[in-house]
Amino acid sequence: MRPTVIRQSHGAALSPAAGGATPFAWEQVGRELGITPGGTVNIAQLTVDRHAASARGDQPAFRSVNADGGRRSLTYRELARLTDRFGNALKSLGVGKGDCVFVLCGRRCELYVAVLGALKVGAVVSPLFPAFGPEPIRNRMTQANGKVLVTTASAYRRKVAPIRAELPALQHVVLVDDLGAGAMPETHDWEALLQAAAEAPALVATSADDPALLHFTSGTTGMPKGALHVHGAILTHYATARLALDLRPDDVFWCTADPGWVTGMSYGIVAPLAVGVTSIVDEAEFDAVRWLSILESEGVNVWYTAPTAIRMLMKAGPPLFAGRRFPALRFVASVGEPLNAQAVWWGVDTLGLPIHDTWWQTETGGIMVANAVTDDIKPGSMGRPLPGIVARVVRQRAGETREVIETPDTVGELALEAGWPSMFRAYLGQPERYGKCFAGKLYLSGDLVRRDADGYYWFVGRRDDVIKSAGHLIGPFEVESVLMEHPAVAEAGVIGKPDALAGEAIKAFLTLRRDVAPSEALRMELLAHARRRLGAAVAPKEIAFAECLPHTRSGKIMRRLLKARELGLPEGDSSTLE
Ligand code: WT7
Repeated sequence: MRPTVIRQSHGAALSPAAGGATPFAWEQVGRELGITPGGTVNIAQLTVDRHAASARGDQPAFRSVNADGGRRSLTYRELARLTDRFGNALKSLGVGKGDCVFVLCGRRCELYVAVLGALKVGAVVSPLFPAFGPEPIRNRMTQANGKVLVTTASAYRRKVAPIRAELPALQHVVLVDDLGAGAMPETHDWEALLQAAAEAPALVATSADDPALLHFTSGTTGMPKGALHVHGAILTHYATARLALDLRPDDVFWCTADPGWVTGMSYGIVAPLAVGVTSIVDEAEFDAVRWLSILESEGVNVWYTAPTAIRMLMKAGPPLFAGRRFPALRFVASVGEPLNAQAVWWGVDTLGLPIHDTWWQTETGGIMVANAVTDDIKPGSMGRPLPGIVARVVRQRAGETREVIETPDTVGELALEAGWPSMFRAYLGQPERYGKCFAGKLYLSGDLVRRDADGYYWFVGRRDDVIKSAGHLIGPFEVESVLMEHPAVAEAGVIGKPDALAGEAIKAFLTLRRDVAPSEALRMELLAHARRRLGAAVAPKEIAFAECLPHTRSGKIMRRLLKARELGLPEGDSSTLE
């Protein structure tokens, strides 16, 4: 039998701000970052220029490893120069404070320069996941009036050029890999643009409350919501990098998440640069052997990854680990889905270190609950709220009112006291939806949890029907909408079906129009249609035809019932559903 608690004895590198019982002093975090009261707060300045001007200037900010094992480093000083150039290039294109710059490309040097250069001039950056198809791209760029898109020639040709006429706000497309020859019409060449730009400091004064990042996230109903984050969020990123990831300035850090999602942005870019570490960037896709080699040969000290990846490594089996040692590795953490106790112990057995679960969401912008550096670990638990974060478990009473549950081990919704620096400030253009996330001063997370008598939180499930596949949140509505575009489809209900590796796999139930007969050929055609429109990350893996779909009294499809049937579970009493 494994013990239920792993005692942690190592001394932690906590900042003095983490003052135990005394209230957490965010001002102190700001001082550590060099922020002066009333002065500019700009993520690019604090993560890049600040280090470039210091003794850290010649340290690599990023060290990327490409598919062939080739490496390329970018020092803080080089990054400062390139982001100044790109920032000035954006200015020359008429981009200013508040304009939205989208990025759609793989994990390559230009992506990091584009993100940080745009932040430098006060633009709002929104990343798109490279595995998105044209529909998720169109949807997000339209909602945010994207003015500039930084992408690759092939992504542009396949996914954006066909819909460009539907994006009237899009004024400039910058292609990072078009070497000038055969340039596509109505696009800019990255290299030429940078060459022509001045190298003078491009920084535009921004304040802690100015918008910086826009991350789209999915709900059960309606299209994805753009969660808007501000420059001041960096206080959370910096503090949590220290408290929850144990990052120290000389570390080699590897966050495996793609910057197309909030984890890759907050902890692949902002947090590590704020501390001043060297981040490893793997340009290739997941491969178990390759990942272990990177951990080993790049001398990774701190590793932040996801349960899906851990499950894939576990599946690859012990032979893969034979003879491998990770002497540099000091701290391992994961996020995005439940991390079960076996996975924590797998870390102990194979890496020599337990895996620290952390919890947060797109809306929280940074880690809120964690098995922090100094805490004992309870395998299977998400840990405790970090310093500066006040968490509650709440139960909904009749109507809109919420009641705080104090009794340990009682299931309720995880809520957080509003006001931490990286809290989202809006759902773009949807104030009512934003308002619904709050009850008084509490932000309601939509996750069901229980808190034990020691204050550790345990994940129970989601309140809504969103799907978590390979760590990515997918809104069933977005998938259903694309399926229903197809002339053969009458209705669609999309659910997450348990999957040994991805956590959940996307499955669609369809009814067909009266004159259409189900067939294998049609199923394949619909799978292909969804994949073409949505991209591999969002498209269903499985489609089933049904005679009819279950509805609530108000006519909504009851995905919960579809899921219960799929799992062979009791359907429960659905008579009270509106
Ligand atoms: C949802 C947020 C995680 C940040 C990036 C993704 C689930 C997150 C855990 C965890 C169980 C977790 C929750 C949450 N989730 N961390 N440690 N244990 N579930 O952010 O795409 O907005 O997803 O991911 O359901 O609400 P996101």
